[in-house]
Amino acid sequence: MSSTTVRRKSNTFYVILIAGAAALGGFLFGFDTAVINGAVLSLAKAFNTSSWVTGLAVSLALLGSAVGAFFAGQIADRYGRVKAMVVASVLFTISAIGSGMAFTIWDFIFWRVLGGIGIGVASVIAPAYIAECSPTHLRGRLGSLQQLAIVVGIFVALLSDYFIATSAGSADSPFLFGVAAWRWMFWTAVPPAVFYGMVALTIPESPRYLVAKGRESEAVNVLTKILGGDVLPKIEEIRQTVLRERQPKFSDLLSRSGGLLPIVWIGIGLSVLQQFVGINVIFYYSSVLWRAVGFSEKDSLSITVITGAVNIITTLIAIAFVDKFGRKPLLIIGSIGMTLTLGTMAYIFGNAPLDAAGNPSLAGSAGTVALIAANLYVFCFGFSWGPIVWVLLGEMFNNKIRAAALSVAAAIQWVANFLISTTFPPILQYFGLGSAYGLYTIAAATSFFFILFFIKETKGIELEDM
Ligand code: GLC
Repeated sequence: MSSTTVRRKSNTFYVILIAGAAALGGFLFGFDTAVINGAVLSLAKAFNTSSWVTGLAVSLALLGSAVGAFFAGQIADRYGRVKAMVVASVLFTISAIGSGMAFTIWDFIFWRVLGGIGIGVASVIAPAYIAECSPTHLRGRLGSLQQLAIVVGIFVALLSDYFIATSAGSADSPFLFGVAAWRWMFWTAVPPAVFYGMVALTIPESPRYLVAKGRESEAVNVLTKILGGDVLPKIEEIRQTVLRERQPKFSDLLSRSGGLLPIVWIGIGLSVLQQFVGINVIFYYSSVLWRAVGFSEKDSLSITVITGAVNIITTLIAIAFVDKFGRKPLLIIGSIGMTLTLGTMAYIFGNAPLDAAGNPSLAGSAGTVALIAANLYVFCFGFSWGPIVWVLLGEMFNNKIRAAALSVAAAIQWVANFLISTTFPPILQYFGLGSAYGLYTIAAATSFFFILFFIKETKGIELEDM
């Protein structure tokens, strides 16, 4: 093995390590958003809340995330990517402790919104930092680490909810070590939250941030560790794109005519469609969903855990192929697959026979088809729109507008997530599952044309050339 190969390998290892550290924010993102799934029924009982207050307890945190995402770019550009991660970690930690200690539903919501802000910040910083630190040929794969961390976070939250709930027994208000079980669900997030902040303090600032701040000798050190060899031409290139520009502002996102730049609209379109296909209905409400069509509570919980595992496996597939096949082909195949599987679910849910009590019931083969379709849908989302939207948002904007544009696109993604999550229960109640899935099918079909007409391949292109 030549010394260059050895160096290249150790560089790659180093980059994976720092990208992985940033992606820990994704783990907390996944964990924090999904942990509510197992806690929501106990919460409603503990605080005796009406259904709309319960809904707010689930979804207001997502609006907190929109706020966090919106300001993340400014924090990251002013104080650095690493400091922004530390801020997110502090918010997560306080929120996890506070939510578990809540006295009323209102202070519970307050703590959740605080954590939501942390999630929003982390959701912007991780892809930006990873894109800025990755060598071009690995950028897609390393960017997908964020999604891998999110889906592992979701899975761990669902699993830990499941274990806490089953260890506490099935009493009306289950307790564990003398404390209500749902409180433990939130406290479980404390160790990873603290760990994230500690790890963030050990990773270097992104070279592009350092150049922008005139800290070039530090940038040279970091880039040498990442790329190896002579990095001065690269520094010069970054300087060309960064230093000529002033501190980025949101007004940079506007075109001469005053509207948003087309590329920002494309980022927003990707974000909104990623949520409008209804993925988080599965992750936040799966138990409600499967129970609505006649599955037992235990079966619904097991299905949820299986779906979480499918989500992890398919993300690994994305990581293997995103830098080989490119972003666009995967997105197109994903859109076709989602349209077919969502359409199947809309049809089956819409035509479910009613049981004696008048509720839809999917006993027998229709239920099996619905289950297969739902998991295939998660599979199709997981190798395409899940990870690749985050990869694209990290890389598609040029250095001058990246932080601001990513913030806007991510903030709107959280608002879109909020809209889907709050409208699902009423749509289910008044129009039925078939209609909900009909809407998600339309979004998936739209996503196909959106990619076809608006997305350019970014595989293999230097960030400086975007
Ligand atoms: C993406 C979405 C996120 C969703 C996850 C599910 O990361 O942005 O909202 O929970 O995929 O895999």
